[in-house]
Amino acid sequence: MTTPDLAIDATASPAWAALREHHEQVKDLSLRSLFDSDPARGSELAVTAVDLYVDYSKHRVTRETLGLLQQLTEAADLRRHIDAMFAGVHINVTENRAVLHTALRLPSDAELSVDGQDVVAEVHEVLDRMGTFADSVRSGSWTGATGKPITTVINIGIGGSDLGPVMATEALRDYSDRRITNRFVSNIDPTDIWEKTHDLDPAQTLFIVASKTFTTLETLTNARLARTWLTDGLQAGGMSAEDAAAAVAKHFVAVSTNAELVSEFGIDTDNMFGFWDWVGGRYSYDSAVGLSLMVAIGPDAFREMLAGFHAMDEHFRTAPFEANAPVLLGLLNVWYGDFFGSGSHAVLPYSQYLLRFPAYLQQLTMESNGKSVRLDGSPVLVDTGEVFWGEPGTNGQHAFYQLLHQGTRIIPADFIGFVEPNHDLHDLAGGDADVHDLFMSNFFAQSTALAFGKTAEEIAAEGVAAAVVPHKVMPGNRPSTSILAQRLTPSVLGQLVALYEHTTFVQGAIWGINSFDQWGVELGKAMAKQLAPMLSAETSTEGQDSSTATLIGRYLAGRGR
Ligand code: F6P
Repeated sequence: MTTPDLAIDATASPAWAALREHHEQVKDLSLRSLFDSDPARGSELAVTAVDLYVDYSKHRVTRETLGLLQQLTEAADLRRHIDAMFAGVHINVTENRAVLHTALRLPSDAELSVDGQDVVAEVHEVLDRMGTFADSVRSGSWTGATGKPITTVINIGIGGSDLGPVMATEALRDYSDRRITNRFVSNIDPTDIWEKTHDLDPAQTLFIVASKTFTTLETLTNARLARTWLTDGLQAGGMSAEDAAAAVAKHFVAVSTNAELVSEFGIDTDNMFGFWDWVGGRYSYDSAVGLSLMVAIGPDAFREMLAGFHAMDEHFRTAPFEANAPVLLGLLNVWYGDFFGSGSHAVLPYSQYLLRFPAYLQQLTMESNGKSVRLDGSPVLVDTGEVFWGEPGTNGQHAFYQLLHQGTRIIPADFIGFVEPNHDLHDLAGGDADVHDLFMSNFFAQSTALAFGKTAEEIAAEGVAAAVVPHKVMPGNRPSTSILAQRLTPSVLGQLVALYEHTTFVQGAIWGINSFDQWGVELGKAMAKQLAPMLSAETSTEGQDSSTATLIGRYLAGRGR
């Protein structure tokens, strides 16, 4: 393992110390006063990144703060981190791998050779094969073993092999072929696969088993259950056991980097779509891992999405840092996490189609930046990765926004909204109200209320009883970013995802951590394997801690073992 000279501790730099001092001076400034004293702030503290208008004016920063944050990029040598990633340097030092999800969306005439491999040619070869396959399923020319067309595609995968495809398939549902239903099985809880299969005709169901390693317990278990469900179902329909076993080839395809294990499972490697070890799981849905998405929306829309990713990659790679959306948002996240002590970050999409976007971002950001040691193995002495969470507006407004508005914690929030609706509905009973206007008025209202609040004087002036006034005070000064795009298209989705990928990268570079490994998930996996025989009473719980032994005892008693 080589540790490249990117192991820089910006948190020990004079720039960090200057920010600490500066924070003391500005921490109590109010957004009201910042806007009053700087009328151009609302239009000037904003950047257009490809098709995304990113307004960061409602953040608790002065122009001096922004300058000091920019100095942090120099202290961390962010430019060198970015160049190293795009060039395929092995910046994932603990796994000695390049980090090249940006290569997945390079146009076919681009050139990139890494470790002797013509990356662009290989990426496009797989994309073309995916396109041919997706078209054949969509047109009905790919049939199941009985000759019937496929009507349901089930992606079996977990983590990065699930969350990206689910999120994007939901996000782009409006562009999908509604004749085909997409389902996703991820949890090893057997109810997941049961619920997703019990009402289906096996003869018209196709499984895509997506696993980078093809060793993941959940995915392999679900794939075996699916295979049994398929062969049992076909036999119940009159097929011989031998034909049913052979039918697996028409009903299972795989997405993996591990051809050997795919073949061992019984999937024809002609029906395997590969990717590479330089694609991290949480950065993979624009690779073959997005095959189920491509079947849903078609190869053209998928490529449009890739072009959106690429455009944001180019913005990140080339825009000056002062006008670079991922750099600015990454720095602001560091500002709140490390200087204001916010441990949490809300993501509030004003689009029902982005229902799973916060869940997707949880893996992207928290598996990437939930780290406690730096690239050289020394402890990080500041806070890293914040907790990402959220729900689409307006649902969240009626659930947790109360805490955002009046709670004691500062939780920066991202509002994501679209000018044009995908479906232009009018409420005629409401005097021909454009429902999207009603919806988006909430988007604008919420960030305004969070930023500027309502004072006791303003509330008292409305005639509110003195005893109730303090309860109604809205403190304001709650920071948010507003991201506004014209419409949720495949390209815009790609831009949004790349924006967050690179924001996550910027934070990791500032903290000097490896955002691309995930060793923290391994111990729990190993322990589950060790405990499984205890749950079937094959081995005793002796040697377990008293809590775990008691819990397992209750479980065994409940199951009559
Ligand atoms: O356990 C974490 C993890 O390794 C994720 O990083 C990954 O996305 C997921 O498991 C699934 O892994 P695979 O695609 O190899 O099945």
